[in-house]
Order: sequence, then C-alpha cells, then structure tokens
Amino acid sequence: MSTVSPPLSSLVNYDVSRMKSLGILLSGRGSNFVAIAESIDAGRIPDARIAVVISNRADAHGIAIARERGLNALVIPSKGRAREEHDREVVSALQRNGVEMVCLAGYMRLLSPWFVQQFPRRILNIHPSLLPAFPGLEAQEQAFAYGVKVSGCTVHFVDEELDHGAIIVQKTVPVLDGDDELSLAERILEQEHIAYAEAINVVLSGQIEIEGRRLRATKIRQK
Ligand code: GRF
Repeated sequence: MSTVSPPLSSLVNYDVSRMKSLGILLSGRGSNFVAIAESIDAGRIPDARIAVVISNRADAHGIAIARERGLNALVIPSKGRAREEHDREVVSALQRNGVEMVCLAGYMRLLSPWFVQQFPRRILNIHPSLLPAFPGLEAQEQAFAYGVKVSGCTVHFVDEELDHGAIIVQKTVPVLDGDDELSLAERILEQEHIAYAEAINVVLSGQIEIEGRRLRATKIRQK
C-alpha cells in the first residue's frame, strides 16, 4: 500500500519565527476542531491560526461551528468523486489559503498518496486508540470488545498507510469495570482534545527529529 518511505532519519524544520497557518479537515461533529480553535484563542497554541476549515460533507456540524466562529469554512463534497480528483480540489483550497500544516479532525476519508506528498510531514491525524492497536473505524468499540484494560488516543503524522505515520503524542485512558463503549469513548475524547493541542505545539515548537518511526523534539537551535 505504501509507495513512499520516509528517510530513516530526518529533521522537520519549521520557521518558528512566525505564525503558522493551519488547515482543518473534518467530516462530522467537529469537537477536535473546536478544541484546537479554543486552544488557539486561549493562547495555548501561540504560534498558529486557522486559515481554513474544509468539510467533505455539507451537513457536518463542525462546518456550521466554523462559520459561527467566523472562520473561513468551505464544503468540498466528496460523494461520488474519484479520490484524487477530490483531493486535488482540497489541496488547491489549502494552498490558496496559505496552509502550512493540515490537521485531520474526524476527516472520514483516506488521503491519496498524492495528497500526502503535497504536505510532507505537515499532516497530523488523531485516532481514538493507542496505535498500532485498533486502527480503522470504531476504534473505541474495538478496544472495548477486545477487553483491553488501557486504551487512549494517538496524534500522528499522516503517511500513505491508514493510521500509521510517526507518533507525536499519545494519552492513555484506563478502561473501568463500569465502562460501556460510550463512557469509554467519552473519556478518550476528553484526552483527544488535550492531545491534539499538545501535538501541534510539539511540531511547531522548533525542530523534531524523526529516526525510523521514532520522533523526539530537539532543542531549538540558537542562531
Ligand atoms: C475522533 O474520535 C477522532 O479521534 C476520530 O474521529 C473522531 C472525530 O470526532 N478520528 P470530532 O468530529 O472531532 O468530534
């Protein structure tokens, strides 16, 4: 499935001297998007602004919230369209809006390898499990049914494989005896909202070294 492998060791260099423009992609509820927007407004993500919010579904609650918040909100419908043709339209909207980092926040569509290559190490995703356990749909239900005692969430870079790229932040959530799928998913979601802001800050805070799959933040070099 994967066509392009990342180099074994590489530095992701962000120019930390200026504000970064984020593009948010979503398909539904939009709570992770709201958590990012609130973190920016509260100064918890000091180096970023949301340049555009894009949904592939007109009925996504998240896009209505983006409009209420006065953000640049676009719907680019994906239904019935070839993946890469739709991706080309999304990428050109991101580029037109000067987006430097893309945050997938409940975007229920696989990105084509071509899309991923337009933003190398510049696309983040959040997944409601401790990857590599339970990739794909309904991760919380999968974890609950498996009987794990600890689950959580993962923010990772997006590569050409599903829920696969280098891990930036993980948060653990214990599975309690009294839990059902819903209560577990709710507690994981609370941690998602914390984890996403943290991961954006990690990536924007300076330099990140990635060796194989291992990512660590390095000190910002003095000029
Ligand atoms: C979250 O659980 C996220 O981890 C997954 O999709 C869900 C989106 O929720 N990728 P929301 O739209 O951000 O509320």
